[in-house]
Amino acid sequence: MKDQDLSIGIDALAIAVPEGFVELADLAVARGVPPAKYVEGLGVRRMAVAKPHEDPVALAADASRRLFRTADVDPSSIGLVVVGTETAVDHSKPVAAYLHGLLGLPSRCRVYEAKHACFGGTAGLLTAMDWIASGSARGRSALVVCTDIARYALGSAGEPTQGAGAVALLVTSSPRLLALEPGVTGSYARDVADFWRPLYKKDAVVDGHLSVQCYLDALAGAYDAWEETSREVGQDPDDVVRRCYHVPYGKLARKAHRHLAALRGFADAEADASFDIEVAPSLRFPSEVGNVYTGSLYLALASLLDAEAEQLEGGRVGLFSYGSGCCAEYFAGRVQPGAGPFTEKLALGAPLAARKRLELPEYEAIRRGDVEADQRPAAATDDAGALERVAFLGVDSDRRVYRA
Ligand SMILES: CC(C)(COP(=O)(O)OP(=O)(O)OC[C@H]1O[C@@H](n2cnc3c(N)ncnc32)[C@H](O)[C@@H]1OP(=O)(O)O)[C@@H](O)C(=O)NCCC(=O)NCCS
Repeated sequence: MKDQDLSIGIDALAIAVPEGFVELADLAVARGVPPAKYVEGLGVRRMAVAKPHEDPVALAADASRRLFRTADVDPSSIGLVVVGTETAVDHSKPVAAYLHGLLGLPSRCRVYEAKHACFGGTAGLLTAMDWIASGSARGRSALVVCTDIARYALGSAGEPTQGAGAVALLVTSSPRLLALEPGVTGSYARDVADFWRPLYKKDAVVDGHLSVQCYLDALAGAYDAWEETSREVGQDPDDVVRRCYHVPYGKLARKAHRHLAALRGFADAEADASFDIEVAPSLRFPSEVGNVYTGSLYLALASLLDAEAEQLEGGRVGLFSYGSGCCAEYFAGRVQPGAGPFTEKLALGAPLAARKRLELPEYEAIRRGDVEADQRPAAATDDAGALERVAFLGVDSDRRVYRA
């Protein structure tokens, strides 16, 4: 039996970020760049910096545990785990398999990793929706986790647009936060060389300015497809009160909003006038963390809900996901009744409060050490951080060892 009439969507979410961050004004001074270029020109304020023990598995496990705890989720209710990541820890074993073990999930569970640059998490979310709509879930929930460490070469143009973090999403047939619209999405794909990371490299290779153009072209294509589908099913595509975008850096969300407004027949001045209401609330968390690749759109959604869930109950939110290479999707969801008080309980921004500012030499030392961390014997690890957090300890006979 297919459950197509169910309301399917994001029931709860939680974020995890590394303990350390760099003030981008500090980085600008160190790189001989006017701080205004980063803060105003790119619209970035801080970037999270992951230490070696805070790898994508540890961040994903922390976000998931926080989700289970704050949203009262029983791990035995999970029947599907998809991890979206473009900074995985192994060419074969998926982050989802490590998560399955660290979270104590049931053996009757499908677990795998999805890769398509920053689009992998959205691919997981759309698959989870279809898994529930098809009836395969049989009453169970899906856990979709986006986890990444965004790295560019030290001193490169991409360096101020780094970041790190994970966002865990629980997808159910009775969502407490955002009911999505299965079947009403707009896809766009094209083979482009805007951003990639060869198997032998730890840092991404990026044609930054091309990537911005590809992102905007993809937004136009995906929105157009979504608008057409919306009209076909009798929905009004203008019935959207907030818009969340993939946020590699804040300024790109502003460019995206202008681009979308132009497609909808509005002038730049009108786009700028609506920006503070429709987009700005979704940019606070991203400005604290930087680019988290697969989780970027969902960090923006977390920021929006944290700021406004109560007043948005019943309102429709537009969502744009972009992954270089490229694939993009435009879709929407409606904030659910009761989302306001539930979001307060989730305390979405709490992980951002307990962090430490890193000095530039500390950041650069972490970056250099990170290259060797994946080969370090577990026994030699001495910087595994706070005890309550999952930590990557090192390797033992080529096996990654975690402290749960
Ligand atoms: C985004 C990126 C291409 C910018 O690179 P860059 O060449 O160093 O930056 P630019 O010279 O284009 O300057 C960036 C902005 O700062 C502005 N700026 C420059 N100096 C400034 C100053 N002193 N004060 C205020 N603004 C300033 C520029 O005018 C520009 O604004 P605009 O885009 O609105 O025109 C680079 O950071 C990058 O490659 N990032 C990684 C790729 C990425 O995130 N792509 C996104 C798509 S997925």
